[in-house]
Amino acid sequence: MSKNTYYITTPIYYPSDKLHIGHTYCTVATDAMARYKRMRGYDVLMLTGTDEHGQKIEENAKRAGMTPKEFVDRIVEGEGGIYDLWKLMNISYDRYIRTTDDYHVSAIQKIFRALYDRGAIYKSVYAGKYCTPCESFWTESQLTDGNCPDCSRPVVDAEEEAYFFRLSEYTDKILNLYEEHPEFLLPVSRKNEMVNNFLKPGLSDLCVSRTSFTWGVPVDFDPGHVVYVWIDALFNYTTALGYQNDRYHDFEKFWPADVHFVGKEIVRFHSIIWPAMLMALDLPLPKQVFGHGWLLFDGGKMSKSKGNVIDPYILASRYGTDALRYFLLREFPFGSDGNFSNELLITRINTDLANDLGNLVSRTVAMVEKYFDGTLPEMQDPSPEDDDLISMATALRALYEEKMEVFAFQEALVEVFKVTTRANKYIDETAPWVLAKDEAQKTRLARVLYNLLETIRITTSLLLPFTPESCEKAWKQIGADPSICNWDSAATFGLLPHTVTVQKGESLFPRIDLAKELEALEN
Ligand code: MSP
Repeated sequence: MSKNTYYITTPIYYPSDKLHIGHTYCTVATDAMARYKRMRGYDVLMLTGTDEHGQKIEENAKRAGMTPKEFVDRIVEGEGGIYDLWKLMNISYDRYIRTTDDYHVSAIQKIFRALYDRGAIYKSVYAGKYCTPCESFWTESQLTDGNCPDCSRPVVDAEEEAYFFRLSEYTDKILNLYEEHPEFLLPVSRKNEMVNNFLKPGLSDLCVSRTSFTWGVPVDFDPGHVVYVWIDALFNYTTALGYQNDRYHDFEKFWPADVHFVGKEIVRFHSIIWPAMLMALDLPLPKQVFGHGWLLFDGGKMSKSKGNVIDPYILASRYGTDALRYFLLREFPFGSDGNFSNELLITRINTDLANDLGNLVSRTVAMVEKYFDGTLPEMQDPSPEDDDLISMATALRALYEEKMEVFAFQEALVEVFKVTTRANKYIDETAPWVLAKDEAQKTRLARVLYNLLETIRITTSLLLPFTPESCEKAWKQIGADPSICNWDSAATFGLLPHTVTVQKGESLFPRIDLAKELEALEN
């Protein structure tokens, strides 16, 4: 029987000189979701990539004294570039698209022509404002205090011959889409924003070509025009599957996407413009768009120009990739903004990973070593004192599933850590060091330690999407074969062999000296 498919995407990133921790946020979330679905047995395709055309890149390349292609190549493939960043963050993407790839460029030309042939696109003159950093067109009335309503930066006058997409014809269609498929755009607050700010006032036609610069996909039937970078970008989700090209052959299998994860400032493109374009081509719509919040720093969005860029390389090399991944998804609810600080990061690592989980693993393994030379002997059956821990551990998978299915990563992790905290409390309650003094209690002691090892096996099986490397290390330490550390085995207690052998290892998450680290990071 063929497996169910799951297609999940990140936005494709503008290659900018410095990717910061905010950029990694969405990709880490997408990766966790992709790993979760793989664990559930889905045939997953996780797509990420880079959005390499547009005026902004042309200008940045010029400033750097390079051709645009040299410029994007350096940032994507060069040392410390985007490929390296995703390797560092242990991102398990299945496919990477670059919009400068030939197959994508020619597919966009075909798509643009198809839209034109269907009458969805027409030629006219554009006169209005343009925000170059956002690559967004605005009318005078849409500006906020004369600036871009998305990023508050200054806009420039733009007047040129251009092609337009008949977006104005889609107001009711998009409203109907939201009505008929309330799950299409989440969280609900984002939908309200789209309805009130854009749909209720009525959509205007959208300018979809430019003539004032050349770094883009040329309109093949009208030299001098390049395709608006957002049209080029949005269709990446389909060209990367093989739509209008022969490079891939997965469109039938994976389209429509199960979910697009996107930052909140690009929800408008994904939940209005994107479905309208697909409707114009009679293509199926993605099942869901999730608009996550921003990671803020001192209350503002991180950006290079604001000089508050937080370097993921520095943080991952000091605290480990898993700790950083965990922090990003545990600290802030996925749909809301979160204020990043180094103090918050270190405190979270210490509290959950070092004190709670790390300590549980190292104490348990150390006790098996100390009292039984590393191999548990035959043990007693569980006693009523064990019921609470065992029932919490076996109930965990269902609670976790409920949260993961709605992208509530934070809440899923809270559920996991309720169980690790319970296990630490169980150590205090059962006092293995007291049992160890009494020969007659040895079989009870073995049972207590076995229960702890089982709880670790279950919790780390479910943490796999978040902290993959550390989970595998934990399994080695508790003597668990990976074949019993998976979704199927995560709701059953008692799968480790009764006479399991543990293997002491390095501390999974060393405790960090907060004061010392803050000084090192901030000076
Ligand atoms: N190229 C477009 C996306 C096209 S998708 C068809 C783009 N690129 S981007 O590089 O500017 O942003 C990529 C993603 O990073 C966006 O979803 C954006 O919201 C996200 N983030 C950038 N800074 C961020 C934070 N500080 N916090 C969270 N996400 C942030 O937009």
